[in-house]
Amino acid sequence: MMFDHLHQERVLILDYGSQYTQLIARRVRESHVYCEIHPFNMPIESVRAFEPKGIILSGGPSSVHEEGAPLADPGIFELGVPVLGICYGMQLLAHQLGGAVEKAERREYGPALVDIVFQGDLFTDIETEGVRVWMSHGDRIVKLPPNFRIMGRSDNSPAAAMGDPQRKIYGVQFHPEVAHTPSGKDILENFLFRICRCKPSWTMKSFVESAIGSIREKVGDDRVICALSGGVDSSVVAVMLHKAIGDRLHCIFVNNGLLRKGEAETVQRIFRDHFEINLIYVDASVEFLDRLREVEDPERKRKIIGNLFIEIFEEEARRIPGARYLAQGTLYPDVIESVSFKGPSATIKTHHNVGGLPERMQLELIEPLRELFKDEVRMVGRELGLPERIIMRHPFPGPGLAIRIIGTVDPSSLEILREADAIIQEEIEAAGWYEHVWQSFAVLLPVRSVGVMGDERTYEQAVALRAVESVDAMTADWARLPYEVLGRISNRIINEVKGVNRVVYDISSKPPSTIEWE
Ligand code: XMP
Repeated sequence: MMFDHLHQERVLILDYGSQYTQLIARRVRESHVYCEIHPFNMPIESVRAFEPKGIILSGGPSSVHEEGAPLADPGIFELGVPVLGICYGMQLLAHQLGGAVEKAERREYGPALVDIVFQGDLFTDIETEGVRVWMSHGDRIVKLPPNFRIMGRSDNSPAAAMGDPQRKIYGVQFHPEVAHTPSGKDILENFLFRICRCKPSWTMKSFVESAIGSIREKVGDDRVICALSGGVDSSVVAVMLHKAIGDRLHCIFVNNGLLRKGEAETVQRIFRDHFEINLIYVDASVEFLDRLREVEDPERKRKIIGNLFIEIFEEEARRIPGARYLAQGTLYPDVIESVSFKGPSATIKTHHNVGGLPERMQLELIEPLRELFKDEVRMVGRELGLPERIIMRHPFPGPGLAIRIIGTVDPSSLEILREADAIIQEEIEAAGWYEHVWQSFAVLLPVRSVGVMGDERTYEQAVALRAVESVDAMTADWARLPYEVLGRISNRIINEVKGVNRVVYDISSKPPSTIEWE
């Protein structure tokens, strides 16, 4: 991996398939300690080469008694590195180090209270009675491994926490990484700082400095191409690359004619005028609209847009002499999904996907954000001086407004949608709701209905307003926008946007609906 040598101190998280594994990593990073998630069966030589200051074994859906249950390489316990097993990770410790695990009489799921019976180590400065924790397990430990002692008990788990302070191996039956365990952060920090003796040195400032250093080292005197979309990830990549190699970065921004109002101008103003980045602006709107003419099927729209983007991008990229690298805004969750033992279903970012271009043009990839979570990318953006408008931006789909026009796409429907969308953005921002919603936008419906305007009867289109709250777009719920905000948006759209006489609010959640209509 690209930046490996730069992190002096790091913690290794071995993934046994828990839905919370990413959360463990986020908590560790929030405590300013660098960590990485690897599959549970990472070869022991690689574990050794990783030089972890500590190892965390995640939870997981398995039971140690199942055939083929994922185990830990026993070599891990011989490294002299502190180990913390969480939930299934703790049961593994008991099972593999000479204790015993049995099926509990009843599954324990949800909140529980733990009494701490050992005040040092993991539980230094943690209250002793009735510590609120979150449990989720079917098995329980009935015999501790030799040299282990009980550190916490709950009604249902006589060994809710255990440890061998001599060997620095600990286990907790509950989940310290979730918000429902309020002292979980302190417990994890006791592991990181008291037991592993890590220093809180992982900051975005240190990340930016080392990332820029290694980009310089890797790129040397060569040139790098970057597809700029104006979204958070590609913007951060572009500015970071520019800090590292200046004019040898060439950004390509393709206007597909499906952008929001003012977007092409904003991107050029920020990146070319303000950051003075080499920016190739290609206005391909006519070509895109041409190929989309009379296309109704949403999947076909997406394909046409994706393919034409690659064609145009490649043509432009070939004009840059001596380019050897392609920079991309891949994030850590994308990386985890591809390596994880049993990750959530893969989400494919089509707008970042430049097809087989790197192979065809023999470009090597540079992915400076591949170790970061989204919130860390935003912090890096701030560190690099990107405007807040870009940093906090809502996601916008690669196929743009084309998938928000139900039916065929043409200049006049785009114009209507663009104006309606701009009003929504303005009003949501003015009401202080922009940061509370994941996305907000208009959808243009192929429905006409009757209205009256002044003395005249109208027969015009309807716009659906969509505003959702979400943490990762996998699930979403409609935002409970105040009636006044809804009212203002509706009034303004009907009065200001010619061709629309009705606005409806979409109150569907995902699942079973999706965020976008197409
Ligand atoms: P859905 O509609 O599936 O959307 O709930 C989840 C997230 O993905 C975005 N989205 C897309 N992004 N190309 C993209 O680049 C697409 O074709 C596409 N479709 C949906 C959507 O905006 C939401 O954030």
